Parts: sequence; structure tokens; C-alpha cells
Amino acid sequence: MNVLIIGSGGREHAIAWKVAQSPRLTKLYIAPGNAGTADCGENVLLEVTNHADVVRFCKKKQVDLVLVGPEIPLADGLADSLSAGGIRCFGPKQAAAQIEASKVFAKDFMTRHHIPTARYAAFDKVADAIAYLERTDYSIVIKASGLAAGKGVMLPETLDEARSTLESILVNRTFGEAGNEAIIEERLSGQEVSLMAFTDGESIVPMLPAQDHKRLLDGDNGPNTGGMGAYAPAPIFTADLMNEAVESVLKPAVNGLRLEGTPFVGVLYAGLMLTQNGIRALEFNCRFGDPETQAVLPLLETDLLDIAEACVNGTLQDVNIRWKDGAAVCVVLASKGYPEKAEVGKQIILSPLDENIICFHAGTTKENDKVVTTGGRVLGVTAWAETLAESVEFAYDAVNKIRFDGMQYRKDVAKNGL
Ligand code: AMP
Ligand code: GLY
Repeated sequence: MNVLIIGSGGREHAIAWKVAQSPRLTKLYIAPGNAGTADCGENVLLEVTNHADVVRFCKKKQVDLVLVGPEIPLADGLADSLSAGGIRCFGPKQAAAQIEASKVFAKDFMTRHHIPTARYAAFDKVADAIAYLERTDYSIVIKASGLAAGKGVMLPETLDEARSTLESILVNRTFGEAGNEAIIEERLSGQEVSLMAFTDGESIVPMLPAQDHKRLLDGDNGPNTGGMGAYAPAPIFTADLMNEAVESVLKPAVNGLRLEGTPFVGVLYAGLMLTQNGIRALEFNCRFGDPETQAVLPLLETDLLDIAEACVNGTLQDVNIRWKDGAAVCVVLASKGYPEKAEVGKQIILSPLDENIICFHAGTTKENDKVVTTGGRVLGVTAWAETLAESVEFAYDAVNKIRFDGMQYRKDVAKNGL
């Protein structure tokens, strides 16, 4: 098979690394990729927003399957364009990608299909939103409805703060079009679990449950980031909880999308909170999580191409998906200044790593013979071992062998799983 992966982050390096191990692979392209994906296949420069160009490339290179990493191309209808061009795509069409691209759609959908989630109300007029705010007697979170690169959720502490948050979303358009609508939602508390599942639109196979670390600093302090680390499987997520999540969240979501005429093919990611009253779905993503994928895919035994192809062909129930025993931990190494303004262009000193440890690249590129930083999240150092404790130890041993100017990372990744 000839395969094209769209994206350039740590998630896409993990996908490329896994696909590269498939005996069925002939040629792998990554657009645009990074310095790490260049070791798995050929990085190509494609204007991903120009769907006709992507289709043309796939036809010219006889690409059999496209795997889309990030949400933006999916929300933009890339899967629809590929399908219209006769190219198979692992990733949902635009209508199904709404489950991530519009939080208002997602919340209304959850209500229609009785998926447990926080109480909420949606607004496009700031006056209505503020009037509602003054009536609510529970603590709240405020969200911009559209895609905001993980920055669209605010936790105001006072009524004044809540008012100005709503104004910044709906009036000042801090998030651009993503702020055409805003959601006011009941604030829940509990541990969070990321549960990703493969689906062909009908069958569902959950992956190992993962936890990520969104805050910049140890102890869940500092600003929110794209994710500073992840580990899997999350011990807190027992078999009973898995069963509850499949029955009350994943199945109604996949069935609901199919029944509404917009079947979901690809990876459906449920962001779950384990509250005292049971599991609540905080959000859905229409793709693999980043950095959860860097911790989950190294534990996947089965050929990812077999799974992706079965999803696209509607035959997922025929695939026996197996996982390795043990646990994996991914520690993200970020640039100085991240997440506000990352310093880039720093040379990265990499050392050879042991078996069972892999350094997934994110914001990196090759310049002559050097690898240099190009973004906020630079590397995701992943180790897997028989126990979570060993994985943590191996991952941090490997981190100590890597250097770049201003490198910052959390020292407590997976600590709450130990
Ligand atoms: P989302 O993009 O909707 O998952 O939100 C991002 C993060 O905001 C989540 O991972 C939670 O940490 C937090 N969050 C979202 N919704 C709620 C809620 N209803 N109550 C408490 N925290 C929330
Ligand atoms: N790790 C959170 C996400 O991928 O959205």
C-alpha cells in the first residue's frame, strides 16, 4: 500500500512510526511531516488546504489510503474531497467532524442521544448570555463553540470575569469565527480520561484509556498547553468504567452519527470526566489525541494499516485488535516561552536511545545535518515497559540524554497513575 499521512506533530510521527512497521506498506508520504517522520517515509510539501492538489498528488503517487492527523483539515472537508476523488481516507467527513468542530453541535447531539454531559446553554448574543449567567446558581465554564486549538475553554472565578470572557468571545472575537457562538456549561470535577476508539461507523473498538497533562507545570499548575505528556493505560479507568463509557458514550455517539446520516469513520476521541455521579463526556475529538497517541500506539500490537483499512471498508468487526501488556509514558519536551511565544531555531542534541524508547518529533526540522526546533512542543519521549513505574523511569532517563537551549518539561508525568 502507498499511504499519505497529513500533519506535522508528535501524533503524526507516532502514526508514521507505526505505519512504517506494516509489512503491507510500499511507500509512505507525510505532508508536511517533521525531522522525525523523515525517518519513517518521505516528507512532501503539499498545500493541505488545496484539496484538489492533495487529490492530484494521491492519484499521481497511487496513494491507497490517506490518514489525517489534525482536526482542521477534517473540519474543512478533506475527507469529502478525497472520497469524491476516489481516494480512501481514514478520518471523518465534514458533517461527522462537526462533533469536534462545533461544541454547540456536540452538546445538542449529546442531548439528542442521551449521552451524559454537563448542563449547558448556547448563545450567539452577548446580552442573552450575560442574562443567563446572572440566573445560574452553579459554577460554570465558558467555551467558544468552534475550533480554538485547545484554548477555547475558560474557567472564570467571578461574575465579572465571566462577563468579560463572554464579551471577548462574542463581541471582540478573540477566537475569530470560533466565537460565533459561546457555551455556558456547568463546571464538573473529577479525573479526566482520554478514551479513543477506532470505528467504521458501526463497530467500535476502544483503545487503551490514556491520561494527558494539559497544564505547563508540575502539579497541574501554570497555563494550559496542547499537552505536556501522557500515559496509557490509565489504571484509574477500570474494566467497569470502560464498559460504562462504551455503553453510555461511544456507542450512542457512533450510532447517533450513523442514524443522522453522517457516519463517523476514523478515530473518535471522547474526553471523559469521572465524576461522583458517573462518567460525563466533556467533549469529542474527531481524530487521534496529541500526545495520547504517542503513549497509546507503541502498545498496539496489531497492524495499524489493517485497522485503518477495515474502518474505511466497514469491516472493523473482522479485525482482532491486540495490545501489548505493560504501560507507556510520553514526556513532552517544549521550547522556552511555550505556550505563549516559543523560542525556535535551537539545535537539538539527540543521543542513541535503548530499545523500547522512542523520541517522537513534533516541532523539529532538519537543517543541513542538524535537527533544530521549529515550534513550542518539540519532542515526545516515549518509553514502554512492563510496569508504569518502569516506563516513567526509562522515559526520564532518556530525557536526560536530550538537550536543547531552553528545554522545559514536566517532571511528574504519569505520577497520578502510580
Ligand atoms: P474541552 O475542550 O471541552 O475538553 O475542554 C478542555 C478542558 O477544559 C477539559 O479537558 C477540562 O479540563 C476542562 N473542562 C471542559 N469542560 C469542563 C466542565 N464542564 N467542567 C470542568 N472542566 C471542564
Ligand atoms: N490531548 C488533547 C487533544 O488531543 O485534544
